[in-house]
Amino acid sequence: MYFMTMWIKSKKPIIALAPMANMTDGPFCRVCRETAGDNFVIFREMASAEAIVRHNEKTLQMCNFAEIERPVVLQIFGGEAGRLAMAARIIYDKFSPDGIDINMGCPVPKITGKTAAGATLMKDPEKAAVIVRAIKAENLPIPITVKTRLGWSDPREILSFAPLLEQAGADGVSIHGRTKMQGYAGKADWKIIGIVKKILKIPVIANGDIGSREDIEHCLQITGADGVMIGRGALGNPWIFSSARLKHFSLDELARVVLRHAHLHLEHYGPKSMVTFRKHLAWYFRGDRVKNMSGIKKTRSALMQINTMEELENILQKIR
Ligand SMILES: Cc1cc2nc3c(=O)[nH]c(=O)nc-3n(C[C@H](O)[C@H](O)[C@H](O)COP(=O)(O)O)c2cc1C
Repeated sequence: MYFMTMWIKSKKPIIALAPMANMTDGPFCRVCRETAGDNFVIFREMASAEAIVRHNEKTLQMCNFAEIERPVVLQIFGGEAGRLAMAARIIYDKFSPDGIDINMGCPVPKITGKTAAGATLMKDPEKAAVIVRAIKAENLPIPITVKTRLGWSDPREILSFAPLLEQAGADGVSIHGRTKMQGYAGKADWKIIGIVKKILKIPVIANGDIGSREDIEHCLQITGADGVMIGRGALGNPWIFSSARLKHFSLDELARVVLRHAHLHLEHYGPKSMVTFRKHLAWYFRGDRVKNMSGIKKTRSALMQINTMEELENILQKIR
């Protein structure tokens, strides 16, 4: 059964981990699942439809996931309907994800430029609709959703864009409450997402600036959405998906999860990969997250220089 139908029938809001390039990879998603249980949906980092169609090994590896991570939605980006439909078919046949999401919100020039993908599709709603129709025509037995923003420059663009996606057959839409031009500046506008929710029949998932359990409740209240999607609020903070565990949070628990994540990262990316794990350490040890830790500045600076698992273990040993 569609995970969305299941959730909606259960009358519980959908909680989702947002897709984040270079962050919501296999190791991080697995840590989130192990830490917080099965009450949320994982959206994996975006993958290039073109690279999938060309059977690029690295990209296909990015889409691979462990059974324990389910429900997992794989996100693809591209600017050409035929290629996106082919990519959707390939990843469905290879990995059987629980959903496929189309990126129509990424503002990064590498994506919006020559490829004319991501947020660029909001400037060409007809093309966006053609893309949804092409992927739906593959008749895959899973939901095909779209993740987008409020618009390219005007936050009210979504009021006409989202209905077009629905008419084209999208099974759901996640909306980041900012325009492309805003990037990450200002505050996400949850009120407009609430207006979209009233217009559409398909599930709407609200996204942007949700950093705590209280924010989840507040955002659901304001938007009336079917669920929320959490991005940066989950980085270094897989506990956000599990209110019960949050209460027992301690430095010991932090060190345990960081070590587990680091081991998975190392296993996945190879012996030299502790350098790329530093970006996760920066989130785990962000000032506002470890307020009560003594010597945090020194610890953080040491963490930002680690090269090996042994170095990480030594630092964590000291804080436990
Ligand atoms: C490091 C990073 C990478 C991201 N990569 C993607 C991506 O691959 N696909 C996508 O649709 N959005 C991507 N986003 C946007 C997030 O999914 C989300 O919409 C945005 O961060 C706002 O939500 P938040 O305030 O909860 O972080 C990315 C955001 C960040 C910070």
